[in-house]
Amino acid sequence: MRAGTMMRADEYAVDVEHQKQSAAEAAAELVEDGMAVGLGTGTTVAYLLPALARRQRSIRCVATSPRTEAAALALGIGVEPFGTLDRLDICIDGADQITAEGWLVKGGGGAHTREKVVAGAADRFVVIADSTKPVAGLHPPVPLELLAFGSPATIRHLGAVVVRAGQPLSPDGGVIADYTGPVGDPAKLAATFDATAGVVGHGLFPPAMVDVVIVGHPSTVERFEVR
Ligand code: 5RP
Repeated sequence: MRAGTMMRADEYAVDVEHQKQSAAEAAAELVEDGMAVGLGTGTTVAYLLPALARRQRSIRCVATSPRTEAAALALGIGVEPFGTLDRLDICIDGADQITAEGWLVKGGGGAHTREKVVAGAADRFVVIADSTKPVAGLHPPVPLELLAFGSPATIRHLGAVVVRAGQPLSPDGGVIADYTGPVGDPAKLAATFDATAGVVGHGLFPPAMVDVVIVGHPSTVERFEVR
């Protein structure tokens, strides 16, 4: 697009999809024969799966959600239960917010608990996103997964938390909710969530988990190393 030209809303939406696809396709290039691969969840990962299928590499995969598992299987990508592998070479997943330091908010799709387990098992965690995801500072909402047992008490303890309307329980039976209070220092907030009984998982991913961020832009793909 020429500088100074206004984009219509439908053109903008197409462009964002193109950015997701470019980032996903760049990440697919990192997958080689023999790798064990973690497959994330979301609309950006939806572009990764066909790109991986086209690469026709001999890989073993685990999925972070039933949605991703079904989509991968439909494309001929084999998916194993995450009980047959105890480490992964690479995990590729999207994010809702990304800071320059590499902090992420994830869980827009409610899959953040499994996503964190899979990312944490991988030697390299690669984040793929369109150019709307980088932020100057993290902001609410921060997705949570709560143990269903006593969830009203957990919510009361944390304060600013709303159960996500219309979202089914997680595949592990957890209640998907969102923390809507201020984020402030994300390390402190993450520590609070980690120390709260009844919080199964949260969508704050620290830079120490993230290796590479790949962001699609209108005509380029930006890549930055985090750790
Ligand atoms: C799902 C996630 C997604 O990776 C995150 O919400 C980004 O999704 P999308 O690629 O659709 O923007 O964390 O739980």
